[in-house]
Amino acid sequence: MSYVVAVVGATGMVGRKMLQVLEEKKFPVKEIKLLASARSAGKKMTFRGKEVVVEELKAESFVGVDVALFSAGGETSKKFAPEAAERGAIVVDNSSAWRMTEDVPLVVPEVNPEAIKNSKIIANPNCSTTQCVLPLKVVQDLFGLKRVVYSTYQAVSGSGRDGIEELKEGKRFYPYQIKNNCLPHIDVFLDNGYTKEEEKMINETRKILEVPELPITATCVRVPVLNCHGVSINVETESEVDIQKLRDALQDFPGVVLYDDPKNNVYPLASESDEKNEVFVGRLRKDPSIKNGLNMWVVSDNLRKGAATNTVQIAEVLAKGGKL
Ligand code: A2P
Repeated sequence: MSYVVAVVGATGMVGRKMLQVLEEKKFPVKEIKLLASARSAGKKMTFRGKEVVVEELKAESFVGVDVALFSAGGETSKKFAPEAAERGAIVVDNSSAWRMTEDVPLVVPEVNPEAIKNSKIIANPNCSTTQCVLPLKVVQDLFGLKRVVYSTYQAVSGSGRDGIEELKEGKRFYPYQIKNNCLPHIDVFLDNGYTKEEEKMINETRKILEVPELPITATCVRVPVLNCHGVSINVETESEVDIQKLRDALQDFPGVVLYDDPKNNVYPLASESDEKNEVFVGRLRKDPSIKNGLNMWVVSDNLRKGAATNTVQIAEVLAKGGKL
């Protein structure tokens, strides 16, 4: 079997990466449709060595499409995902538009592929959440989760082309310059003093790991790194952490690479994680400030596992399960 695949937002940072990942993973594509705004209509891009012309996104674009991979912002997804589903396509959406909608599954294939069921719209989590739920799932299964504290160090590629242009070329996009700065401000501020990014990490983690009441707090910070997010995760567990058991389980978990030999300076780095599909985990150590505590440092390519790779992996689960 091979499929008609639409990439919505094909000209963007994540859209381009989706095309690359579809090629690398040899996803069975019969025909590819590249969709973007009217500004990009007529532009030529390459897929599997062949030129493909970008089309303006319209509801009719989805006629005959089996799976539509969206990464063109929340507003576009809100409007066009239902249009695509109505025309028979299954949507995998990378925006925040549908993530917290009750009957829309929020999926990381290594963690909760069973959540997909027969949904027409499937949501891809926020980039920093995705990389954290893999090691957290391992901790949850071994020791149980009692509380999670996230502190993120997020790359500018998470802001799309605008973020890259600011760090590389000094074109101003953030409220303060990102060069030589760490901005404790990702997405908009809410009335409770948190940012929307922090709220996304809290709510999405609870949904994916099916722990709606789990106490979680987060501080999300944009740092002057081009690509790959780092997250410090402090966890309070139900039972005492056995670091060796955790190491073994992380090593066996699909999609996770253990980089943890601090005496030889081996720990996850943005520069090493760039262009890789895995989540890198290291600096494993007990937190002696609480009864059952653990610290981890987790780095991953936010455009890949945080976005494009996870989206294509969901499409693979759909294809393998005969759902396309
Ligand atoms: P375009 O290149 O035509 O503006 P990034 O997050 O890297 O900036 O990319 C955003 C992607 O979403 C681009 O492909 C962009 O297309 C697309 N996009 C943005 N707004 C719309 C819209 N209203 N309709 C369709 N595609 C859109």
